[in-house]
Amino acid sequence: MVRRGSPPVLGVASALGLPLLLLLVLVLAGCKQIQAPPPQAAATPAQATGGYVGAETCKACHGPVDAKFAATKMGRLFLNHPRNEKERLGCETCHGPAKAHVESGGGKGVGGMISFSKKDPTPVEQRNAVCLQCHERTARLFWQGSPHESRDVACTNCHTVMQNVSPKFQLAKSSVLETCGQCHIDKRAAQQRSSHMPLREGKMTCTSCHNPHGSVTPALLKENSVNETCYTCHAEKRGPFLWEHAPVPESCANCHEPHGSNNEKMLKVGRPRLCQQCHVETRHPTSPYGTDTASLKFVLGRSCLNCHVTIHGSNHPSGFAFER
Ligand code: HEC
Ligand code: HEC
Ligand code: HEC
Ligand code: HEC
Ligand code: HEC
Ligand code: HEC
Ligand code: HEC
Ligand code: HEC
Ligand code: HEC
Ligand code: HEC
Repeated sequence: MVRRGSPPVLGVASALGLPLLLLLVLVLAGCKQIQAPPPQAAATPAQATGGYVGAETCKACHGPVDAKFAATKMGRLFLNHPRNEKERLGCETCHGPAKAHVESGGGKGVGGMISFSKKDPTPVEQRNAVCLQCHERTARLFWQGSPHESRDVACTNCHTVMQNVSPKFQLAKSSVLETCGQCHIDKRAAQQRSSHMPLREGKMTCTSCHNPHGSVTPALLKENSVNETCYTCHAEKRGPFLWEHAPVPESCANCHEPHGSNNEKMLKVGRPRLCQQCHVETRHPTSPYGTDTASLKFVLGRSCLNCHVTIHGSNHPSGFAFER
């Protein structure tokens, strides 16, 4: 981005006073004349601002597009109530200077603008930089180097800017789930399994747990770990417990598949197999489908949880085996 002159000039003005400012203006004006382009391209307002023509010009040919954009959050601001120089550029804030486009009568790929379309030759990084000039902070603090950034996912893969497609956040599809589902087909499909959290019912969404713009945690989680993420809603599982069940504080994902599973309670593996992955030979005989009746008592139909009910941890003085 090229910085335009006015702020430094003002700085100099306050430092050196009005007479010097006048002198400076004269000198600058002189320079401008020396560099001035040939007279046939002479001073239109567009030229004075470096190839920008203003949003009104676009309306003539892009009326319907303009009307849709004007109904969005950004459109309302940029076109009607711009608060700074960037917003004042209107359409050209994002598409870049359109003088060449307009003077050639417009058209696809005409005038070297950034179109953000699939065929746009502008590198993704450069397209994203357009958005990041205003949106780098807050949720996008860890965008650089994030899995999406480093795999060349564009802001516009997840956001449709020119019109409101979703009720909130200008998403590319009608909902977060559908937006993510464009690429993460398996995760969207997992929602259809018999046991799942209420994502497709609309009570929560992928961004309840993930920040798609980047985070400090693996798997783009919003919180510092898997468990911290789950505790935001399932606080009672945090404890503290007198008797902790070791795999629980380690990671809820030891036993649960957060995106959905065909086992009850979103368990990764059905019971009693789930427990027997880790508890091979303990006090209980563990041949789940054997004919040994001593063994059957503990497994068949009854499952381990019939007795070990407080599986996430117990506060009972004699709850070491999570039976109470
Ligand atoms: C905040 C950035 C931004 C601003 C401001 C903006 N655009 Fe766009 N424009 C985009 C993006 C991104 C796309 C790609 C499609 C999408 O996301 O909706 C696009 C696509 C387009 C397209 C081609 C696709 C289509 O829908 O036919 C046209 C034409 C267009 N914009 C014109 C305009 C005009 C005219 C204005 C001003 C009224 C404007 N744009 C303002 C970002 C912007
Ligand atoms: C003289 C008519 C005309 C004017 C004025 C005009 N355009 Fe276009 N523009 C077109 C035509 C025609 C197309 C191709 C058809 C389409 O995509 O709608 C086009 C396409 C575009 C595209 C898509 C480019 C691509 O490669 O897919 C963008 C973005 C765009 N215009 C932005 C603007 C902006 C921003 C302005 C105002 C600064 C503007 N246009 C002014 C006629 C014009
Ligand atoms: C000139 C600064 C600027 C640029 C460039 C810009 N935006 Fe924005 N954007 C804004 C402002 C201001 C808002 C309104 C914020 C608000 O109301 O809280 C906004 C709002 C949004 C929103 C939220 C909309 C909603 O309904 O909540 C999204 C998403 C967004 N911008 C995406 C983009 C994308 C993608 C690009 C690049 C194609 C982009 N922006 C370019 C300034 C900008
Ligand atoms: C992988 C998909 C994805 C990508 C890529 C993406 N976003 Fe988003 N963005 C979302 C989703 C989903 C939301 C809604 C957040 C929520 O539900 O809390 C959102 C919300 C936003 C918002 C409004 C709320 C807020 O956090 O301020 C802005 C602004 C925004 N995105 C800008 C951007 C910009 C700029 C880029 C590119 C650097 C970008 N996004 C890339 C998915 C994405
Ligand atoms: C345009 C395609 C696209 C969209 C849309 C998309 N992603 Fe991704 N996502 C990717 C790619 C590519 C990767 C990197 C995969 C890899 O490296 O194996 C990724 C990786 C991830 C990861 C794993 C990060 C890690 O550390 O392993 C998560 C979590 C994720 N995306 C969540 C989301 C969410 C949530 C959304 C919706 C808001 C979303 N994605 C939308 C393409 C997409
Ligand atoms: C309840 C919280 C939660 C929700 C909601 C959620 N995820 Fe995840 N996601 C996780 C956790 C936790 C992990 C890490 C799993 C692990 O470490 O085994 C993860 C991992 C991922 C990964 C990377 C690892 C992999 O298996 O490839 C992707 C991609 C992903 N999620 C996408 C999504 C998408 C898309 C949605 C929305 C449909 C979504 N997630 C909803 C918690 C969630
Ligand atoms: C944004 C809130 C939220 C977060 C974060 C969250 N959950 Fe949930 N979870 C819910 C809601 C809501 C339900 C449904 C409760 C109900 O139906 O009574 C649920 C249900 C469950 C169930 C029971 C499913 C069933 O079939 O009855 C399990 C297991 C579960 N969550 C595990 C997790 C794990 C593991 C994490 C962390 C990766 C997590 N949750 C993060 C909100 C959340
Ligand atoms: C050792 C395996 C294991 C681990 C680790 C585990 N769970 Fe569970 N969880 C289970 C089992 C088994 C059930 C079924 C309980 C039942 O049927 O009564 C369950 C049920 C649940 C339920 C639904 C019933 C209820 O008690 O509310 C939620 C919610 C839940 N777990 C959340 C979590 C969270 C959050 C974590 C991480 C802090 C976690 N689980 C870690 C095994 C585990
Ligand atoms: C990921 C491995 C893992 C899974 C799955 C698992 N456990 Fe554990 N469990 C452990 C570990 C590790 C301990 C602590 C052992 C120790 O302290 O010697 C433990 C302790 C126990 C104890 C207390 C034993 C003692 O000596 O203190 C019981 C009872 C128990 N688990 C039952 C279950 C049941 C029932 C399930 C299935 C719902 C289950 N576990 C699933 C790893 C697991
Ligand atoms: C009929 C009730 C019952 C069922 C079903 C049951 N257990 Fe137990 N379990 C117990 C009792 C009682 C103890 C002993 C507690 C004590 O010593 O006070 C125990 C102890 C344990 C211990 C601790 C062993 C040790 O070395 O101290 C583990 C681990 C365990 N059970 C795992 C399981 C697993 C895995 C299953 C499912 C295959 C299961 N239990 C099913 C009642 C049951």
